[in-house]
Amino acid sequence: MEALFGRNAPCTLEVGFGMGECILSRAQAEPERNFLGVEVHLPAIGAVCAQAAAMGLENLRIVRGDVLRLLNDQLAPSLLDQVCVFFPDPFPRRPERRLMRPLFTELVALHGRAGTELFLATDIESYAEFAEEVVAQDPRFALRARGERPTFRPLSKYEAKGHAEGRETWELRWALR
Ligand SMILES: C[S@@+](CC[C@H](N)C(=O)[O-])C[C@H]1O[C@@H](n2cnc3c(N)ncnc32)[C@H](O)[C@@H]1O
Repeated sequence: MEALFGRNAPCTLEVGFGMGECILSRAQAEPERNFLGVEVHLPAIGAVCAQAAAMGLENLRIVRGDVLRLLNDQLAPSLLDQVCVFFPDPFPRRPERRLMRPLFTELVALHGRAGTELFLATDIESYAEFAEEVVAQDPRFALRARGERPTFRPLSKYEAKGHAEGRETWELRWALR
């Protein structure tokens, strides 16, 4: 982590940060914490990098690519204190393609340590149920909160659109034992 950020500090990984509402506001509000964002969508990455530069953020690093590849091949283990997954693509008919599957929780466990938190927000109730079942099968994780919005997460355009269309938000938080 020191090689990436020039310092050792608690580190949050945000997966699929989209337009970056959360990761940008948090990197500004929590300068004592390192933030690593991973995203596959190039226009979103460009927009967030431009805003990060304009805001002068020194505690934010962006990786372009698939989070599974980042965790599997590119990041040393045990470095993450928080992993945030906010509104992952739902794949309603192909649950096997959902991010919150055993392969992902295995990689989160590898990259976390005791106390590392995993946050999920989704506007698809069946996704929240699916994720809760997946994580419950891994004894390294303990469910810490259900239905509790993290104070640090602002309303993103994506979430606001869901609300406008009548969808509510489902929140889950686990921690590594
Ligand atoms: C529905 S959007 C939500 C964006 C944002 N988190 C929010 O709350 O507004 C899901 C995002 O995850 C990204 N994504 C999907 N699969 C990914 C993966 N395997 N690795 C990294 N990002 C991914 C997509 O490009 C997209 O920007």
